[in-house]
Amino acid sequence: GLKIVTIGGGSSYTPELMEGFIRRYNELPIHEIWLVDVENGQDKVNIDADMARRMWKAAGHDVEIHVSFDRKEALKDADFVTTQFRVGFLEARIKDERIPLSYGMLGQETNGAGGIFKAFRTIPVILDIVKDMKEVCPNAWLINFTNPSGMVTEAVIQYGHWDKCIGLCNVPVIAMMKEPEAIGYDAKALTYQFAGINHFHWHKVYDQQGHEVTQKVIDALFDGKDIGLPANINNVPFFKEQIEQMQMIPCGYHRYYYRQEEMLAHSLEEYNTIGTRGQQVKHTEEKLFELYKNKELDHKPEELSMRGGAYYSDAACECINAIYNNKKIHMVVSTQNRGAIPELPVDSIVEVSSIIDGKGATPIAWGKFPSAQRGWLQCMKAMEECTINAAVTGNYGMAMEAFALNPLIPSGESAKQVLDQLLLAHEAYLPQF
Ligand code: G6P
Ligand code: MN
Repeated sequence: GLKIVTIGGGSSYTPELMEGFIRRYNELPIHEIWLVDVENGQDKVNIDADMARRMWKAAGHDVEIHVSFDRKEALKDADFVTTQFRVGFLEARIKDERIPLSYGMLGQETNGAGGIFKAFRTIPVILDIVKDMKEVCPNAWLINFTNPSGMVTEAVIQYGHWDKCIGLCNVPVIAMMKEPEAIGYDAKALTYQFAGINHFHWHKVYDQQGHEVTQKVIDALFDGKDIGLPANINNVPFFKEQIEQMQMIPCGYHRYYYRQEEMLAHSLEEYNTIGTRGQQVKHTEEKLFELYKNKELDHKPEELSMRGGAYYSDAACECINAIYNNKKIHMVVSTQNRGAIPELPVDSIVEVSSIIDGKGATPIAWGKFPSAQRGWLQCMKAMEECTINAAVTGNYGMAMEAFALNPLIPSGESAKQVLDQLLLAHEAYLPQF
């Protein structure tokens, strides 16, 4: 049987992951699942483990659930490693949000200064995980969910030299789940093509005859239909003329770039009233763990759909299934570009439509992007490269380069102050600086 190791096992998303594996048990013969976490998170991981045991029991399968605080020991002989950890817990995310917002700049989990700092905290840890994997499970696949998912995947492959890594996100999953209904099609009747980078991609849609139906999705979007926006993103409308011109569907996160003023105003409003998304999610998480503690509960509760990452298990478990069973299916993943987007380096990590099989992900060529998308992508990828470099080296000047390139951080004295304040606030998790 398979051994799965989940790092960040104490996440409130763990029941989702269990549900995904349970659904696929006939194809994925799992023998044991190890939930790894840090000792500070032991209450949560133990609650998740008990919940997982009840879920597997209710499903009638005999799968061992282990909890471990010794990562290397847990990783031994793993077949698949999934990562969903958050360095510094939600408290660190809240600092990533509040500090930039206090200077009137966007404060968000994966965008702007906060996203850069999430990378700074996470990349050293993922590189340590890779080191352990090289020693104790050299044949395992690393399926990464930890944000910023694209940059973390790029660090693993380019700096950790671990090629058996695929980065995932639920944003494309939700789009492909909701759009067919919004335009009156059966999900199986549509073909999707996505290209870009994590939380910054566009897609086009085709029908069974290969005719493009992207315009139908654009119409549905401006008719106010649900085309799949994650729960954490405020629904500021795009400008219609701009989207009709590009003839692509931008991902939900593009709002931060195409409607920067309005998204910032909304975030500031929440910051000054109900609190940042991280503060809101902290309450949701507390409620979820109260539910998970209930000894009667043996299935994923509905309330989990309030989290922006809902349905991520579909991506994680389906990806593992496709690798294990050499399925050759379409999925949108973060993987090496290999020419799929000719305007980006061949070894850059991009988030693109790919075929997933026993060898991993093979990206599907997208072809040339028009000027606007090309310019955005090259700027954003350069910003990511500087961020990853600074995360590995601790080079302060390189961190400033990342800040200067980031379109959501106005340059000047206050950018430097935000950088310095975040370095101080996260000191305990930033040994490289
Ligand atoms: C989206 C993203 C995830 C992110 C989540 C945040 O779905 O794809 O990468 O983790 O939102 O949701 P939250 O409920 O934590 O704000
Ligand atoms: Mn994501």
